[in-house]
Amino acid sequence: MKKYALVGTGGRSGLFLTAIARDYRQEGRLVAFCDSNQTRMDYANAMIGEFEHQSVPTYKADEFDKMIAETRPDFVIVTSIDRTHHHYIVRAMELGCDVISEKPMTIDEEKCQEIIDAVAHTGRSLRVTFNYRYEPHHSKILELIAANIIGEVYSVHFEWLLNTEHGADYFRRWHRNKRNSGGLLVHKSTHHFDLVNFWLNSEPETVYAQGDLRFYGKANAEERGVTEFYNRSHGSEAAANDPFALLMKDSKQLTSLYLNAEHEDGYYRDKSVFDDGINIEDTLGVIVRYKSKAIMTYSLNAYLP
Ligand SMILES: NC(=O)c1ccc[n+]([C@@H]2O[C@H](COP(=O)([O-])OP(=O)(O)OC[C@H]3O[C@@H](n4cnc5c(N)ncnc54)[C@H](O)[C@@H]3O)[C@@H](O)[C@H]2O)c1
Repeated sequence: MKKYALVGTGGRSGLFLTAIARDYRQEGRLVAFCDSNQTRMDYANAMIGEFEHQSVPTYKADEFDKMIAETRPDFVIVTSIDRTHHHYIVRAMELGCDVISEKPMTIDEEKCQEIIDAVAHTGRSLRVTFNYRYEPHHSKILELIAANIIGEVYSVHFEWLLNTEHGADYFRRWHRNKRNSGGLLVHKSTHHFDLVNFWLNSEPETVYAQGDLRFYGKANAEERGVTEFYNRSHGSEAAANDPFALLMKDSKQLTSLYLNAEHEDGYYRDKSVFDDGINIEDTLGVIVRYKSKAIMTYSLNAYLP
């Protein structure tokens, strides 16, 4: 039985908790949760309780070392916000654990190097969960290329269309600040760049990128003639007229995870996407030349119906 501790008991953690507490209960068990928010850790315990997994001790963010010392996990699963990944990945490895981290591994080059150095000096393993690789159509593309069905790949056109539901969600909360997510070319495109490396069995040699904020944000909305603004949806009358508004009270999960937890840390999950204070891009284009000589044109736009 492998022992797992999990850091970051937000929306994404449910996938890992369900897998361990229900689907793979013969192979592993959870031993601890760590988060800066107690309400979300309590919700995670209630969730695993539904699968008859016993509740686990909870530790605040500054008690990470104590958690490892007291519960001795084999693996730490990192599902906290992106800007914190490197901190937990490196510390877990220094304390003798292997790590499974959500993408993106981290958000900038310095933190990336810190992680690479920690893997080298601790000898521990780190797996970044690039789940897109396992989607059947994505695996199939790898199989077809590897079997030489289409011959050598000279050119890749990769276009990712984020719709107004999924795309908008990155502009409502922590992702909208580049300090937290690295922007969408890191937070989102990491999946796509990983896929192309995987398919081509090559790595980028030269990369050129451009990006801008053209749709979300207050200034863009003002230019389109919008005159009514609000900060967050909950309790706002103006939000009722905004098709981009997220209404948390209508969802049991969003209410339990975020609305009932915000008194602790002021994390508002439902900010207006036409608010000031967004500093990530929503319109992005990249050209990449790979070591294999393949050339990729790539685009990511985050507001497409
Ligand atoms: N692979 C995928 O397709 C996929 C999909 C969704 C999210 N994710 C990744 O999962 C991670 C979590 O995303 P989410 O949507 O669950 O976000 P979320 O906001 O729902 O959860 C993040 C959690 O991190 C906690 N947190 C914040 N600061 C912390 C700190 N200093 N220490 C410990 N915990 C802290 C928050 O309290 C919250 O519980 C992100 O890295 C995201 O990129 C991956």
